[in-house]
Amino acid sequence: MKNLLVIDSSARRTDHVIAGYNSISKQLGALFIDEWMKKSHQDTIVYRDVGAMPPEFISQDWIAAVFTPEAQRSVAQHQLLALSDTLIAEVEAADLIIMTAPMYNYGMPAALKAWFDQVIRINKTFTFDLNRGDTPLEPMFQGKTLVLLSSAGEFGFEPGGIKAHMNHLGTHIEVLSKYLGVNSFYEIRSEYQEFGDARHEQSLADAKAAAIALAGQLRDQSSVLVPSPA
Ligand SMILES: Cc1cc2nc3c(=O)[nH]c(=O)nc-3n(C[C@H](O)[C@H](O)[C@H](O)COP(=O)(O)O)c2cc1C
Repeated sequence: MKNLLVIDSSARRTDHVIAGYNSISKQLGALFIDEWMKKSHQDTIVYRDVGAMPPEFISQDWIAAVFTPEAQRSVAQHQLLALSDTLIAEVEAADLIIMTAPMYNYGMPAALKAWFDQVIRINKTFTFDLNRGDTPLEPMFQGKTLVLLSSAGEFGFEPGGIKAHMNHLGTHIEVLSKYLGVNSFYEIRSEYQEFGDARHEQSLADAKAAAIALAGQLRDQSSVLVPSPA
């Protein structure tokens, strides 16, 4: 049995009567999960829509609490870190993280960045040791898979594409995913949303087909999903 963690992050929902107003990235995520669940009914899913309910931004007091040794933290400091503790526990339990994200200003939405800032935390998800020289950070979890399903209004963000140098969405999330314990990263992206033309239709159809295919492939080859260490 696998534990799935779904993180949606678009500000848009999927229930608007005008189909064009709905989130493409969330629809891609839903297709992936539907396909996965066709054969894996017993897998658990924890679902968070940080687009609808953004995590709080971290603060000076939050950072001070993180760097206060756990045994010395005040009740208020424990409370300040409670959301972070919960979000980290969800990541720790997950074998597969399904993240959906719109491209906003060539990067991730602020709500998703707020989630990462709450989750990637010293002595919880990574250790820091200057004895390691110039690479003091090391992730504490491993063996997870992350599938990113994204949507962009423009196009050409793939490696070698005309806007590859402006893609700070998938590239950023791939870098950060290491600190969630991710060893296998996949991205499927729909493009051209702002053009609303045949290229968009094609890109969206390709992304939907790729999401379904990847879900089936990862589900059926569950050997790629190594359970996280207890
Ligand atoms: C605030 C905002 C910023 C955006 N910035 C970009 C951008 O920098 N590059 C781009 O290609 N599309 C951009 N878009 C278009 C979105 O990426 C596109 O609408 C995408 O489909 C949004 O994902 P969703 O359908 O899951 O909501 C932006 C849209 C919004 C609302």
